[in-house]
Amino acid sequence: MIPSVAALAAAAASLSTGAAALRINVGAAAGAASSAHMYGIMFEDINFSGDGGLYAELIRNRAFQGASTSVSPWTAVGGARLSLSTTQPLSSALPKALAVTGGSGAVGFANPGYWGFDVKVQPYTGSFYVLGDYAGNFTASFQSTASKETLGSVDIVSAATSAGWVQHNFTLVPTKAAANSNNTFSITYNAAGVKGGSLSFNLISLFPPTYKNRPNGLRKDLMEALAEMKPSILRFPGGNNLEGDAPPNYWKWQNTIGPLKDRPGRMGTWSYQNTDGLGLVEYMQWCEDLNMEPLLATWAGLYLGGSLTPQSGLQPYVDDFLNELEFLMGDAATTKYGAQRASILGHARPWRVNFVEIGNEDNLNGGPASYTAYRFPMFYNAIKAKYPNMTVIASMETKSLPGDAAQDYHTYSQPKSMIGDFAKFDRYDRKHKVIVGEYANINRDSASNMWNNRPLYPFWKGSVSEAVLAIGAERNGDVVIGLTYAPLFCNLNSHQWTPDLIAYTADPAQTVKSTSHAVIKLLSSVRITHLLSMTGDPPKPVYYVVGLNAATGSRVVKTAVYGSPSGAAVSMTVAFAGDAVAAGATATLTVLTAPGGENSSNAVGSIAAVKTETTTLTAGAGGVFTYSLPDLSVSVLEVKGVPGS
Ligand SMILES: *[C@@H]1O[C@H](CO)[C@@H](O)[C@H](O)[C@H]1NC(C)=O
Ligand SMILES: *[C@@H]1O[C@H](CO)[C@@H](O)[C@H](O)[C@H]1NC(C)=O
Ligand SMILES: *[C@@H]1O[C@H](CO)[C@@H](O)[C@H](O)[C@H]1NC(C)=O
Ligand SMILES: *[C@@H]1O[C@H](CO)[C@@H](O)[C@H](O)[C@H]1NC(C)=O
Ligand SMILES: *[C@@H]1O[C@H](CO)[C@@H](O)[C@H](O)[C@H]1NC(C)=O
Ligand SMILES: *[C@@H]1O[C@H](CO)[C@@H](O)[C@H](O)[C@H]1NC(C)=O
Repeated sequence: MIPSVAALAAAAASLSTGAAALRINVGAAAGAASSAHMYGIMFEDINFSGDGGLYAELIRNRAFQGASTSVSPWTAVGGARLSLSTTQPLSSALPKALAVTGGSGAVGFANPGYWGFDVKVQPYTGSFYVLGDYAGNFTASFQSTASKETLGSVDIVSAATSAGWVQHNFTLVPTKAAANSNNTFSITYNAAGVKGGSLSFNLISLFPPTYKNRPNGLRKDLMEALAEMKPSILRFPGGNNLEGDAPPNYWKWQNTIGPLKDRPGRMGTWSYQNTDGLGLVEYMQWCEDLNMEPLLATWAGLYLGGSLTPQSGLQPYVDDFLNELEFLMGDAATTKYGAQRASILGHARPWRVNFVEIGNEDNLNGGPASYTAYRFPMFYNAIKAKYPNMTVIASMETKSLPGDAAQDYHTYSQPKSMIGDFAKFDRYDRKHKVIVGEYANINRDSASNMWNNRPLYPFWKGSVSEAVLAIGAERNGDVVIGLTYAPLFCNLNSHQWTPDLIAYTADPAQTVKSTSHAVIKLLSSVRITHLLSMTGDPPKPVYYVVGLNAATGSRVVKTAVYGSPSGAAVSMTVAFAGDAVAAGATATLTVLTAPGGENSSNAVGSIAAVKTETTTLTAGAGGVFTYSLPDLSVSVLEVKGVPGS
């Protein structure tokens, strides 16, 4: 086992001269196994993170879901009049449609997208339903908003009839790329071909090429930004957004599966209508595509606004979650919900879920008493009875955890206080694991109230202090399941919470991977499977962890230098005991710094805050590496090993 920080701190007194020099003696034998899921991601569908963000749908308000009584942001083309119609719904899930009446010549309707469209010479996959008699063509096209120039169009021969809704599919390949994302999309048709004066439209959808070309898939550049971090766990379908503000708006899995016309959508917790096009199956595919372990959370009887389900009323929700797990994992031939999965998806092969979380932040809003008294135990007992190996995570830290239940710790912080959590997990008993399901620095140390006037983007000092937290977690990889930064996404055109890990607009050229993204990407790039014993100087101002990757045989030292006296660089000495690392062994040292200082951030048009330097080092006598690390740096030293050694 690794020495406790307290023990190391006691040793510190005699080493007061070592402020700018630090020695680590690394033991030879592999110690405790470390979590395979240390670096992960958490998804909260906060304004325009799902719709208008990761979910690649380009059309805003494609199906008139929710309480909205307006056709906004659609606008009429060619003198037509637009209104909402409920006379003949496309489906029970989508009761409203767009009625288009009148006008002459080419008439129709246009959409501004989620603050524009990225128009390139590539295939866009589109679809819409029509009701009404029309003979002729529909034309789907992109226009530049400013110049009105048409950037590409496609004719779609009408199959529309007043006898019922007919779906029309099309592929639109623009003939030229737009200069910027200030473009609109429209569907027009010849008013003279309409019998009966009016046509109705619904589920008007348009996708660019998606990540791994999934139908109904996810935005490519954002998935690529996530893939760079090699995340190994995804906490979904949300924190607060899972809960809903008030009855009946908790997240219901059954409403998020199957054909899009059968998904009603839902008013999320952030006053933001979710289409639920990004639903349970899409989350599982997201996990598959990035090779992540799903951590599926369930609503647990408490709304964010405080409305609580009594013990006598909770069982149906427990049963419903077991049904959801059966939908994902049940046998297609012998279970009811496994059969539903196979029939609606053609996905006979079950998925595997090993981690579930019960609720979100039940330490808040009057949650704790009922949570520990009956809500958590009812879910825990029912899940463990059916899935004894499942890791069932409580949504709060609590002393009253049954069996092998795990817990979730959230921290939104300032650098000075996040540093204080470095040793937090040393104090955990080893019986109940913990996930840091949400963490982020949200303000500078100088802010007197960290919740006010928060920066738009993560900043370097905060990102370094997040590395300190992560390294503290890795030192306890036997009990910490992993860490997931939150929130993940920020749509720069409409957002409610900052800072976020990745920011973007409709234009992929403006995507901003933050300083925190750079830190996670580095720390996650080399995984520790087993801790190695560390003795030597106490971990300050160099916060460090040393481990082994058993698959590659690499020895790994991860550090964050934070608060070196006078900002001096630290002379590092890392000595490996035993034969695994001998004189002449080579190592790769990757060091991240921010030349612009502690406040620097990546931002649109300026994404050079973090400098990455990679050097090759050679061990001296006895397998000792010496190198220097600047203050406010994050680094990984990897001594390449022989697999299996
Ligand atoms: C898009 O173009 C319109 C029309 O020229 C203009 O009014 C608007 O400001 C532009 N929007 C952006 C974001 O450039
Ligand atoms: C409809 O579109 C097709 C394909 O572009 C075209 O061949 C046809 O002439 C069009 N019909 C009318 C009536 O414009
Ligand atoms: C349109 O495309 C969808 C998805 O590929 C398909 O399920 C549907 O049958 C198509 N509809 C028509 C009318 O071709
Ligand atoms: C979030 O989105 C909804 C629309 O879906 C809007 O009503 C609300 O004002 C948005 N909030 C912010 C802060 O943009
Ligand atoms: C649970 O884990 C044990 C030990 O790894 C294994 O033998 C058993 O098959 C697992 N049970 C289930 C239901 O997956
Ligand atoms: C960083 O920003 C904070 C808050 O504006 C300020 O107090 C501090 O002096 C800045 N640091 C540097 C090095 O400029």
